[in-house]
Amino acid sequence: MSTPAIKRPGKMLSELLVQLERAGEVTSQSLVQLLARFPLGEDDLLHWISFSQDHYVRTRVHLTPNYEIFCCCWLPGQFSPIHDHFSSAAAIQVIKGTATETLYQYKSQGKVVRTESRERRQGTVYGEANLIHELGNAPSSSKELVTLHVYFPPFPTVNGGVYEGGRVLHEWIPTKQN
Ligand SMILES: [Fe+2]
Repeated sequence: MSTPAIKRPGKMLSELLVQLERAGEVTSQSLVQLLARFPLGEDDLLHWISFSQDHYVRTRVHLTPNYEIFCCCWLPGQFSPIHDHFSSAAAIQVIKGTATETLYQYKSQGKVVRTESRERRQGTVYGEANLIHELGNAPSSSKELVTLHVYFPPFPTVNGGVYEGGRVLHEWIPTKQN
């Protein structure tokens, strides 16, 4: 009889969870510094790596009242919608491949404008406050892309912070965190 696989974090991921649990006041900058101390690889995330031909796959790795971690897997040509991170601090680590990111700036009355595009190579850890971006794997890429996302605190459960056509698609409605 086979035993079902348990999604148990390995040593490096476990240590990252411990350090996140101990973190007090967190900014995107301090979160980037913390995450950079844990250069994770595909082997650390095998339980959460999953691809779909239809869309990128976003899988929750861990959730506590203080923070939340997702693993995102992208085939060439797959992108997120334009979105922000509510009021959470955020840090992203590129586990495999090269991420293509387009940055946007909030103007007024729910409008955003594109400012620049950047490539984030494997091993890069980054994040910044008030980030509005679109992230994904360029159509010209020959590799799968895997990224790890840490949000502190977890996002509210409402839809929000998603932009389409340069306009807010869902309003950002902050909700109380339990
Ligand atoms: Fe994001």
